Amino acid sequence: MQALQALQIADTDAYIAGDSFTRKRKGTGLPNGILLGKTLKRGTNNTVHVLNTPAGQPSVVARFPRVNSDTRDEEHAQWEFRHAVLAARLGVGPALFDAWYTRNPNPRQRKGLHMILERCYEDWHSAIFDDPTGALRIADTIGNVVSRHFARMAGIGLFAYDLKASNIVLKPAGRIGMTWINLGASRPQDASCAEQQPSEWLKSNLDHRTVFSLEEANTHFPNPLKVTDYVVSSEGHYFTPTELAVDAKIIDFGCDFCEYRPFDRPPDRRQLPVLDAVHRMCSTQLEYTTVLRLTMLILLASNIANELETRKVHLKMSRADRNRINPFHNRMPHEKAACTPRTIGLVKKMLRLPDLKAHLTHYNGRRNNGVKRTFRLANFTFPATDEPSPAGHGY
Ligand SMILES: Nc1ncnc2c1ncn2[C@@H]1O[C@H](COP(=O)(O)OP(=O)(O)O)[C@@H](O)[C@H]1O
Ligand SMILES: [Mg+2]
Repeated sequence: MQALQALQIADTDAYIAGDSFTRKRKGTGLPNGILLGKTLKRGTNNTVHVLNTPAGQPSVVARFPRVNSDTRDEEHAQWEFRHAVLAARLGVGPALFDAWYTRNPNPRQRKGLHMILERCYEDWHSAIFDDPTGALRIADTIGNVVSRHFARMAGIGLFAYDLKASNIVLKPAGRIGMTWINLGASRPQDASCAEQQPSEWLKSNLDHRTVFSLEEANTHFPNPLKVTDYVVSSEGHYFTPTELAVDAKIIDFGCDFCEYRPFDRPPDRRQLPVLDAVHRMCSTQLEYTTVLRLTMLILLASNIANELETRKVHLKMSRADRNRINPFHNRMPHEKAACTPRTIGLVKKMLRLPDLKAHLTHYNGRRNNGVKRTFRLANFTFPATDEPSPAGHGY
């Protein structure tokens, strides 16, 4: 079979107009030699499956539409595809290896958009709720990576607003550092930690090394390591991956929650309810970019804060730790301090746009859908040490 390669699409419209996007494909539609593996996760519109690729091929997943997927409509599918390509090109979304639209379903293909994407591991929602200890350790890094992604997206005028923890997927980046921890002969007590059975290779290497490349980890570690896993060396020492460098990708660029409009592009026939309005409000490119970036940060920060608040009983975590596990909580006051009153005013206006308001109501509830509550949830407040904020634009 041909080696799987990331799609290099210079012109998405040409790709859509060409044969590749809508050509009828047999069976599952997957390229020869690639088999559909177990189901990784089900979202509202899509199911994500592991793909079993031959050795040496990149690790990928299939994102296939569910019965009532929003991509049944061909225009919606094209819309999502365009934005997924943009996100992959920017490096903020998973790399895209193949994509097609199934017009005529068969028993193994539903109607809708099918994509083969770079495989990531758990999403940030699962990380927080299934592995809070590990998530706490990497929360800061996730905050940095995702903030950088938002800056890049805002820079070109790509605005996604289905922002929630389950739409941030994580993968290890670069290398894994293993630190020896002195637990004596006792096993780790933490019930949430899965102790991996190390391979012989790993056991003997652990006695003299603490840093492993990602390739080594993929080849020799029994399962992709989670941050709370412990590995035992042949001498009985416990090692824990503390220096797990993580990367994060944003997913879900569906037509209801994603728009793209560069500042200098005149409005075209496609109406963009959010970005056209923002464009009218902003007088410079810098303003446009800043407002888009800040709004994405606030939407995600408030969504995660609300989720943590509503599920705090399940999480059994102190308020301080809940604030720390939200990657944005501590950075939002600095963001606010760096804003001009006009920028804050623009962000407020943006949050009041009907599409964003509806979105906030859907996730945070009617009680919390206002600007004031959203700012408070996101901790978009002036830093405590500052002077009291001037009347008119402070909370
Ligand atoms: N590239 C990927 N690698 C690993 N897991 C993924 C990937 N993309 C999505 N997932 C998992 O599948 C879930 C659903 O995917 P998503 O694209 O958000 O579908 P939906 O549009 O139905 O919400 C995500 O929350 C995430 O856990
Ligand atoms: Mg999703």
